[in-house]
Amino acid sequence: MKKIRNIFIVVMIIACMFGGTACKKDEKKEEPKTDYMVLVNKESKLPEDWESRIDLVEVYTGLDETYQVEKKTAEAYKKLRDDLRENDHVIIELDSTYRTVTKQQEIWDSFLKEYGEEYTKKYVAVPGTSEHHTGLAIDVKLVKEGKIIADNDEMNAEKELFSKVHAKLAKYGFILRYPEGKEDVTGYGAEVWHFRYIDNSEVAKEIMDKGITLEEYLEKNK
Ligand code: DAL
Ligand code: ZN
Repeated sequence: MKKIRNIFIVVMIIACMFGGTACKKDEKKEEPKTDYMVLVNKESKLPEDWESRIDLVEVYTGLDETYQVEKKTAEAYKKLRDDLRENDHVIIELDSTYRTVTKQQEIWDSFLKEYGEEYTKKYVAVPGTSEHHTGLAIDVKLVKEGKIIADNDEMNAEKELFSKVHAKLAKYGFILRYPEGKEDVTGYGAEVWHFRYIDNSEVAKEIMDKGITLEEYLEKNK
């Protein structure tokens, strides 16, 4: 019996040496759990199994609020926030992060009531198609001279502060997801406050330097 076992082991070793399938199991690379380049927009819905492919963590803010964010996105965000505070004296805080479809529906309904259909369609994704469902998207607000600036129009007026924020996004793997002048590509009005984590600062830099969208980058790099 021992002899048969030894012969079997020798055969397995030879099979491995010549690239047989017997020992390939461990070599097979597992697919990364989270697809940080995932495209979610009006045409491209969130993948069905997405929730099982992200780890959400909680981020506590300087305003005593708690937000749920995808793990790596949260770490990158904290570095971006601290860098801006220490080196640019710009204070950003989270304003909206991971959203369930139910939460997106609440936002949609309240915008519809307050601002009407045209504005809502321009700035709010139909529930199920929001990048916020991915956990990789964050909206920020500013704190300036002790005052919170979270209103869309007021944030749009803070061009200088936001240009400092945008200049540091790529370093931490973020891109500006809805740039000005790209409304026809993204399907949404410009949002200076909405950042998307892609887990690759080189690609983020290319996207930001070229002023292109995630749609355009992915189309060119299929
Ligand atoms: N404001 C973006 C488009 C969203 O609702 O996901
Ligand atoms: Zn957003």
